[in-house]
Amino acid sequence: MKSTRSVLVDDNQALRGSGDDEGLHFAIIMDGNGRWAAARKMPRAFGHKAGVDALRGVVEAAPKMGIKTLSIYAFSTENWRRPSEEVDSLFNLLRQFVKSDLARLHKNNVKIRIQGQRQGLATDILKLIDDAEVLTKNNNALTLVICLNYGGQSEIVEATKAIAEDVQSGKLAINQIDMACFEDYLLSKDWPNPDLIIRTAGEKRLSNFLLWQSAYSEFAFTEVLWPDFDANCLQTMVSEYSKRQRRFGSV
Ligand code: FPP
Repeated sequence: MKSTRSVLVDDNQALRGSGDDEGLHFAIIMDGNGRWAAARKMPRAFGHKAGVDALRGVVEAAPKMGIKTLSIYAFSTENWRRPSEEVDSLFNLLRQFVKSDLARLHKNNVKIRIQGQRQGLATDILKLIDDAEVLTKNNNALTLVICLNYGGQSEIVEATKAIAEDVQSGKLAINQIDMACFEDYLLSKDWPNPDLIIRTAGEKRLSNFLLWQSAYSEFAFTEVLWPDFDANCLQTMVSEYSKRQRRFGSV
């Protein structure tokens, strides 16, 4: 069940915004690995590897700044269009990351969740992520949502199909379908919608990330390339967010 913060938006009551006991949810589009590598005359995979190092720093710092949920865009449904060596290098990095960091993440009380389509992922990746989710399921310092093989439009289409199936089978009545009900069919049903969506490396677009969930999110863009994004950059984002006035459609 979705947390009350977003459900309450339907009732026009979610004016308390964040800072409640759920903590903040920051979502990050980790862009600029390729440019970071090119600036060093290195292959793109080198930039992605540095991107994983940056991720480690941010995951470590986030709970100390009141962030309770961190969603990261690790691989989009569109990223399959990249050259196969780059796709392979990204999945190899994920394999390495889970193998080398899982024990430490678990010790640091981090819950790992995957948001994305399972179809298309290699069997060993599915097993790795399933095991990581099971191992860390009771942790509560930070929920790290790894958006993997994720696309916002297909998430909405899949939710719509599942709702249609439940209506067809009689499990759900049409008049029960409202925003709260719809959210329960999304991959993100177990955590609040993002308070702040950050995109690094200068581009200002959402690239099919969290389309439904971003309806009332704040946005922050930085020129910093993802491999250079560190705890200080995250702190700047927290300060920037704290200056925003969230009205959720009200005055
Ligand atoms: C965008 O940079 C980045 C990605 C498509 C992948 C992000 C992935 C990681 C940081 C590492 C993998 C994550 C885990 C959880 C192990 P880009 O390649 O588009 O950069 P560019 O725009 O400069 O070319």
